[in-house]
Amino acid sequence: MTTITCIEDLRVLAQRRVPRMFYDYADSGSWTEGTYRANESDFHKIRLRQRVAVNMENRSLATAMIGVPVSMPVAIAPTGLTGMQHADGEILAARAAEKFGVPFTLSTMSICSIEDIAAHTKAPFWFQLYMMRDRGFIERLIERARAAKCGALVLTLDLQILGQRHKDVRNGLSAPPKPTLANLINLATKPRWCLGMLGTKRRSFGNIVGHVEGVGDVSRLSEWTAKQFDPALSWADVEWVKKKWGGKVILKGIMDVEDARLAANSGCDALIVSNHGGRQLDGAPSSIEALPAIVDAVGKDIEVWLDSGIRSGQDILKAVALGARGTMIGRAFLYGLGAMGEQGVTKCLEILRNELDITMAFCGHRDIRNVGKDILLPGTFPR
Ligand code: FNR
Repeated sequence: MTTITCIEDLRVLAQRRVPRMFYDYADSGSWTEGTYRANESDFHKIRLRQRVAVNMENRSLATAMIGVPVSMPVAIAPTGLTGMQHADGEILAARAAEKFGVPFTLSTMSICSIEDIAAHTKAPFWFQLYMMRDRGFIERLIERARAAKCGALVLTLDLQILGQRHKDVRNGLSAPPKPTLANLINLATKPRWCLGMLGTKRRSFGNIVGHVEGVGDVSRLSEWTAKQFDPALSWADVEWVKKKWGGKVILKGIMDVEDARLAANSGCDALIVSNHGGRQLDGAPSSIEALPAIVDAVGKDIEVWLDSGIRSGQDILKAVALGARGTMIGRAFLYGLGAMGEQGVTKCLEILRNELDITMAFCGHRDIRNVGKDILLPGTFPR
């Protein structure tokens, strides 16, 4: 493929280049994948109002997310195993984000460590925290994030227990990959990936291995998660994390109005309407369907952002029109990374920016900060 025009082109290229186990890990949802599909298809149901003969000159997508200036209302979402889509994947994505002027979020479950990202970037990145039973480990992670001058903690609330993705079970997902015949054949047919991985020492979970006592082997990921992650996570823990960190906290994985009210009362800085990209509760609504009620309930008290299902600039504009002050992208950037490394993440961001810019203009607006529900065709969007 010589010409990349949209996120789907990046997806197709990533599928060709990334070993199946890791491509499937990114491109799958839980159980029937109903919510995973709805995240994208519900965006398509919303119709935009095309305006003509309005001034479309001098447009601006610049805004702020929790006070951080951004070149467009987009941040890179935390994704585990990013360094398995491409060698040093987290570093490459963080660099692309930094150059583009959008925030990068590093997952607890990343391959590159907090220190790796700090060593390769200047802009403060955000660190995503999963609550584990071992509070001592959480305190050490918070300390490491502080030492790396992370700008915010993204506390993920929707993964106390793990939703099952059938593909991961069938593929025997592990990092590093186990030397089964199927895996060896798969790796051997993906020369770019193999050569890349041979050139780096980073093949396992950089924030965890060697940092959690008695944990050397995270290769059985789902079993390990079940043992380590705290199924009893509560709002008191959110308070605890907020106190320990002392800086900005973003709560990720809010899908319900009641939870949104609790999030707003927690005094955190933003909440993310997210169903984890359809990877947790299959049967939950799409995030764009859940957004308007949450904005109505708490939009005046706390910044409301959205992720899950964004594959185009039109999707971003629709989320902003429905009240999201920012968005996050997961698979869109992972496809870019798997397809072409740092250049692919940059390409992903360029595609989204150009689509967002042109779509906003077609809808008669020149400044993203002025976009509201008036750009949507009544009756086609959730209330
Ligand atoms: C994720 N997500 C995620 N979220 C999180 O808080 N910590 C994590 O480690 C991960 N890991 C992860 C891995 C992969 C492969 C994916 C696709 C997603 C969820 C992620 O932050 C975000 O909510 C979704 O990716 C958004 O949906 P889209 O943009 O992928 O449709």
